[in-house]
Amino acid sequence: MKPYLLAIETSCDETAIAIMEGSSPKSHLCITQAMHNKFGGVVPELAARSHQKNILFLIDRTFKKANIEASQLDAIAFTQGPGLLGGLLVGGCMAKGLAYGWQLPLISVNHLIAHLTVNFIGKEEVPYPFLGLVVSGGHTILLHVEKKKCTVLGESLDDAVGEVFDKTGNLLNFPYPGGIRIDKMATKGDFTKFTFPIAKVKPFHFSFSGVKTAIRVFIERKKKEDDNFVRDNKANLCASIRYYLIQPLIKETIKAMQVTKLKRLVVGGGVAANILLQKELKYFALQKGWELHIPPVNYCTDNGVMIGVEAYFKWKKKKFANFNVVSYSRCDWTL
Ligand code: KG4
Ligand code: ZN
Repeated sequence: MKPYLLAIETSCDETAIAIMEGSSPKSHLCITQAMHNKFGGVVPELAARSHQKNILFLIDRTFKKANIEASQLDAIAFTQGPGLLGGLLVGGCMAKGLAYGWQLPLISVNHLIAHLTVNFIGKEEVPYPFLGLVVSGGHTILLHVEKKKCTVLGESLDDAVGEVFDKTGNLLNFPYPGGIRIDKMATKGDFTKFTFPIAKVKPFHFSFSGVKTAIRVFIERKKKEDDNFVRDNKANLCASIRYYLIQPLIKETIKAMQVTKLKRLVVGGGVAANILLQKELKYFALQKGWELHIPPVNYCTDNGVMIGVEAYFKWKKKKFANFNVVSYSRCDWTL
């Protein structure tokens, strides 16, 4: 019989809960915190307080939706990190409290690995080895993932790609988070209309702060000349911004696949939902004979199911956590 697992995700601005039967969700619910919209980004302290307010109610609702009792659970999983520490502590303390009270094993999950292994929802095994590309609001990272080891090949030296989508989204008057809005609007535009710089950094690494500033300076200058510049050029701006943010991801991923000689590419994180990124990766996968895994759109952005899927693979290996396990805002890959 497959285990029932309760999975808790609180690393950023989504309070997300899933009840899993093995690696398949029985029910899952998510509250996206709307109060950050007016600040144009996530305010960590507000996020933590909101997780605190909603978490118990959401766990209760998820149980009811799955139609199972707490006594049927086999383990409790939670996001240990990386993420915003306040929120992680709320989820971690809740998981520990419930596991202690119900006498259940505890499973701590790495949020970035979960963004990748959610691709194997409903499966019994993760097919190692693979190149992992995690592209989200907090991370842009290329990982060489083997059965017993995970090596960072490269990452962003400054902003994460999702963060730049959201910050440029603010400049274009889109509500937060702007990534998905830029992506949708870009499909109606011409990316050749505006040119932005691509940073030259060491192989497999990324840098987005330069292009972020270049976009901001360009838009501010154009707005001084013409009040309606953004309104009248929105689709073309979105297409160009998307192009210059996605190109480095494609280029470094191809390089990493070639150098590592891996044949399997696994992608995850909110920006994995990007239409251009998906289109280009599918094209190269076909051309180069790679096996490509991209999650369904609703499992790209933060969700409880990804924590549950990774927890199931850890449960199978009996990789349980101690009650003194500590949440971390940044990853320690030696773990
Ligand atoms: O994985 P995620 O939910 O949270 C983190 O772990 O950071 O990713 C959220 C990020 C946001 O920056 C959001 O704008 C971006 O993913 N995002 C997108 C798209 N959908 C979500 N960026 C570009 N294109 C999209 N379609
Ligand atoms: Zn995430």
